[in-house]
Amino acid sequence: MTETDTETDAETVQPPAFEQHALRGRFNAAFFHAMDPVLQRSLQPHKDRVFADLPGTVVEIGSGVGANLRYLPSGGTLVAVEPNRYMHDGLAAAAREHGIHLDLRARVAEDTGLAAGSVDTVISSLVLCTVRQPEAVLAEIRRILRPGGTFRFVEHVEAAPRTPTRAAQRLCRRPWAWTFEGCSCERDLEGAVRAAGFADVDVERYRIHTPFLPFNTQIAGVARA
Ligand SMILES: C[S@@+](CC[C@H](N)C(=O)[O-])C[C@H]1O[C@@H](n2cnc3c(N)ncnc32)[C@H](O)[C@@H]1O
Repeated sequence: MTETDTETDAETVQPPAFEQHALRGRFNAAFFHAMDPVLQRSLQPHKDRVFADLPGTVVEIGSGVGANLRYLPSGGTLVAVEPNRYMHDGLAAAAREHGIHLDLRARVAEDTGLAAGSVDTVISSLVLCTVRQPEAVLAEIRRILRPGGTFRFVEHVEAAPRTPTRAAQRLCRRPWAWTFEGCSCERDLEGAVRAAGFADVDVERYRIHTPFLPFNTQIAGVARA
């Protein structure tokens, strides 16, 4: 895997800057560390399916504090594209615990810096809800994947219109986005992945049951470049 040399793209399309918030950054790092067992209980069947048999080197966007390290083969390498420096210590500690070599890139997923067609597998969980430009992130994932490479994802999405969950998503949107650093529960991420130009997309929609009602409508899937 090599660094990109796409200066032309960088000149014409500027990636969004990532805003670091000391208080919320620390809160989110602590929150996702503390909530890992709870989230894993709900998400495990879906992650087990889409993150099965990961290769030895995986690129992950928005790795947080390492919720998906458990899916990498022991001794493998995680190329973690994680711009939030408050996540970095927890992520490094978790990588050591799991025996995973960590190649940490403190940059946004809209502009990974990786070479076109250089990557076998990209993964994400609960990230496309938070990035500033999901379409740009999906285009970047397609750009770095080799033909036939896969993007495997577990994400939370908008509920169906005129449902209580959709109403809750609407009601909570401002405090939710403030607390979780820009996260939106109202994104049609299945539509975004399908529109991103992958050769093949397999998505399952499902509902989990947590007290965080706006977060309970989810998708998991695999998109092939
Ligand atoms: C809700 S957390 C999920 C973390 C982890 N994937 C998990 O499942 O626990 C969202 C993560 O996306 C990261 N993030 C936000 N904007 C990003 C961007 N533009 N590019 C890459 N990661 C981003 C945040 O720093 C955070 O670690």
